[in-house]
Amino acid sequence: MVRVFSGIQPSGDLQLGNYLGALRRFAREQDDADSIFCIVDLHAITVPQDPVELRARTIQTANLYLASGIDPERATLFVQSHVAAHTELAWLMECTASFGELSRMTQFKEKSDRRDFVSGALFTYPALMAADILLYDTHRVPVGDDQRQHLELTRDVAMRFNSRYGDTFVVPEAAIPKAAARVMDLQTPTNKMSKSADSPQGTVSMLDEPKAIEKKFKRAVTDNDAEVHYDPETKPGVSNLLSILGACTDRDPEVVAGDYTQYGPLKADAAAAVIELLAPVQARFAELAADPDATAELLAISAERAREMAAPVLTRAHEAIGLLPRR
Ligand code: TYM
Repeated sequence: MVRVFSGIQPSGDLQLGNYLGALRRFAREQDDADSIFCIVDLHAITVPQDPVELRARTIQTANLYLASGIDPERATLFVQSHVAAHTELAWLMECTASFGELSRMTQFKEKSDRRDFVSGALFTYPALMAADILLYDTHRVPVGDDQRQHLELTRDVAMRFNSRYGDTFVVPEAAIPKAAARVMDLQTPTNKMSKSADSPQGTVSMLDEPKAIEKKFKRAVTDNDAEVHYDPETKPGVSNLLSILGACTDRDPEVVAGDYTQYGPLKADAAAAVIELLAPVQARFAELAADPDATAELLAISAERAREMAAPVLTRAHEAIGLLPRR
């Protein structure tokens, strides 16, 4: 059976891009594969986090997975730091990835650009991500377009390790969706929507109230020529609205464009579609949030399962590279 692995950082309120680019697809595809989903808390701490908030967001992220339809009976859903093999394999990955490769990662450049403190781990982050994926003999990694380069690095590192030390890892493929692979910021539509955007007005949180969502779409930046057609290059704002509405209603953005001659109705319909899409997720989230212990218990059971899956792969890698077997 095909093995799927993906992860989400518990580093802020998850936003519409996380839902359309990742969570919704995970839920839709969970029965087509043996699926493993991770809350990657070790990735989140590559930048300083408030400890109390990090713990709360870790449970919140787990609840958003569950509310989006991930069924822990059918998929494995766990917290990265609960499976020590991730950091153990990450070291081997750091020894296999080159400094030059890591230096070329655009996400590192973007994330280090705006900070006065840049941790060493922010630089080696993609090696940990490669470990996450390779540890489970993963075939497919569903992610948004922003993770494409990290996935290419993962493949290169897996192939390099295999050619140096013999066939050890499955070389995974990225699965990037056609629709909503890169949901853009509503205020600055040339930037991707992100948990850490400068202005909260450009980001639709998965937990935003309907009124807030309406307001954000109403104020979305478009352009002056008042023509509705899909062209991300010359009309990034309008094209983003068309992409979002298209993704929510499972239509191509070009087709959606045919229904509109004005921006106002397009904005209103995009807002309505997002509100409708998120309503059941938000309702289920509210139920789950009332019982954080139940979620923690679920995560513990899944972590046990993940540890069992990861152990033989880690041993295989240790032996291939020549570490003395543990007795
Ligand atoms: P993260 O936490 O930034 O995002 C989680 C997932 O959401 C997707 N995504 C988007 N998709 C479309 N439009 C957007 N605006 C948008 N913003 C985010 C991301 O592409 C991702 O699929 N490094 C990863 C986490 C990670 C991981 C892994 C993923 C760690 N280990 C192993 C896959 C496999 C990250 O920071 O994602």
